[in-house]
Amino acid sequence: MRGILIKTVDEGDTTNLINCWEIKQEILNKHDLLKQSWNFFYKVYKNNKVYLLKKSKNNVLGYAIIDEKNNGYYLSLLAIRLNKQGNGLSKKLMNYIISEIQDNIYCHVRINNKKAVNLYKSLGFDIIQELESFYNDGGNAYLMSKYESSKYK
Ligand SMILES: CC(C)(COP(=O)(O)OP(=O)(O)OC[C@H]1O[C@@H](n2cnc3c(N)ncnc32)[C@H](O)[C@@H]1OP(=O)(O)O)[C@@H](O)C(=O)NCCC(=O)NCCS
Repeated sequence: MRGILIKTVDEGDTTNLINCWEIKQEILNKHDLLKQSWNFFYKVYKNNKVYLLKKSKNNVLGYAIIDEKNNGYYLSLLAIRLNKQGNGLSKKLMNYIISEIQDNIYCHVRINNKKAVNLYKSLGFDIIQELESFYNDGGNAYLMSKYESSKYK
């Protein structure tokens, strides 16, 4: 897809917060994924590094939110607008983040979320652990990590 920009959000800038929330809600309504509450989402967006995929100034196509932790960089949220999925956008965004961070990146993913599991595998993430009832609704998760899987063993 041509003309796509990756932008990071300045601390305290909530210009695109609602766009990002709407992308998440659209996915929730269709696929029953991304069940985070508004309070959680707002806190994560405000307190961490947000990477936006944009076509123009305010047209957000997707985003990733990275939380810097003691044991590496935690991918808290990743979402691509429903009608833009399948065009290589998340791969572009994640490759950008991986090359910028150059350190361990890890995440949790529902084990039945095949697209996301495949995405992370294709980016070189390993499955470190399977966690039963990790999510509030009882769903199981994989802990997946890009580098340094020994940290979690
Ligand atoms: C998962 C998600 C981020 C993928 O974004 P995307 O832009 O559609 O993915 P891409 O087109 O960049 O494809 C990247 C990889 O994902 C996997 N993938 C994409 N579509 C897939 C499909 N329909 N079936 C299986 N794997 C798929 C493939 O491994 C693909 O790499 P490849 O094309 O080299 O094989 C997107 O579907 C999404 O927002 N899903 C809902 C929210 C979500 O699950 N977030 C992650 C939570 S952990």
